[in-house]
Amino acid sequence: MIKVVVCGASGRMGQTIGRMVHEAPDMELVGGINLKPSTFFGAEIVEAKDAEALIQRTKADVLIDFTVASAVVGNVKLAARNNCALIVGTTGISPEQRKEMDAAIIGHVPAVISSNFSIGVNIFWQLVRESAKLLKEYDIEVIEGHHRNKLDAPSGTAKTILQILDEEAGTREKMYGREGMTQRKNEIGVHVIRGGDIVGDHKVMYSKNFETIELSHRAYDRSVFASGALVAARWVVGKKPAIYGMSDVLGLKK
Ligand SMILES: NC(=O)c1ccc[n+]([C@@H]2O[C@H](COP(=O)([O-])OP(=O)(O)OC[C@H]3O[C@@H](n4cnc5c(N)ncnc54)[C@H](O)[C@@H]3O)[C@@H](O)[C@H]2O)c1
Repeated sequence: MIKVVVCGASGRMGQTIGRMVHEAPDMELVGGINLKPSTFFGAEIVEAKDAEALIQRTKADVLIDFTVASAVVGNVKLAARNNCALIVGTTGISPEQRKEMDAAIIGHVPAVISSNFSIGVNIFWQLVRESAKLLKEYDIEVIEGHHRNKLDAPSGTAKTILQILDEEAGTREKMYGREGMTQRKNEIGVHVIRGGDIVGDHKVMYSKNFETIELSHRAYDRSVFASGALVAARWVVGKKPAIYGMSDVLGLKK
């Protein structure tokens, strides 16, 4: 049985992951961490100050973190010093926070970090990579939409799309929205929609002359991210200490 602790257990993703771990025959939900004590799916949720004691008492194999950028570095350090493997889905992490996380992980514990754990999105990224190689001469626009409570913008998934486009079609300036007299040059336009309960929409548009090619992904339910996080959790336990991506978990080539 893989013993799992969920950090951000009372949140939207934490609740979905908690339910799926509870229902998984090969996993045990041994606890959760959040800002206030509570319970979920038969397990206790402790507040952050009691997190270390929970991990030690339960001998957790893996900590799954879907919290906020300001909390994630502390959570990663906590798991690393207790030899607990990591799944990190939290987005909006600054380059400085990422550096601190990497230093805590490398040489200590195995970790899968991804801005999107959906298997479909990881295949979508691969399609973006392949198409960008062929469509370097096209104008590129990236559009993403999420629910009204999402804090960071553009989404971590959109930032990964932009990184892939830079790698495969050449680095271009990014234009975050347009207003007034704007003359299109060679930039990539990035457009963010926030509203209602949109789970996660991403679209890449390549346009030239009289044609447009569109690649898009739409998530209808958070369970797509949660089930991918569980796939990664099963994979990461027992791996060599290092930072891995979902492409490693799924065996997708770069
Ligand atoms: N990688 C992916 O596949 C993926 C998918 C969906 C969401 N996300 C990201 O996951 C994160 C969480 O998303 P959400 O929609 O569940 O948000 P949410 O606001 O519903 O949940 C976050 C939870 O973390 C808790 N929290 C804050 N500080 C904490 C701390 N120090 N210790 C423990 N818990 C703490 C909050 O109280 C909240 O309950 C966001 O960064 C989001 O962008 C990633």
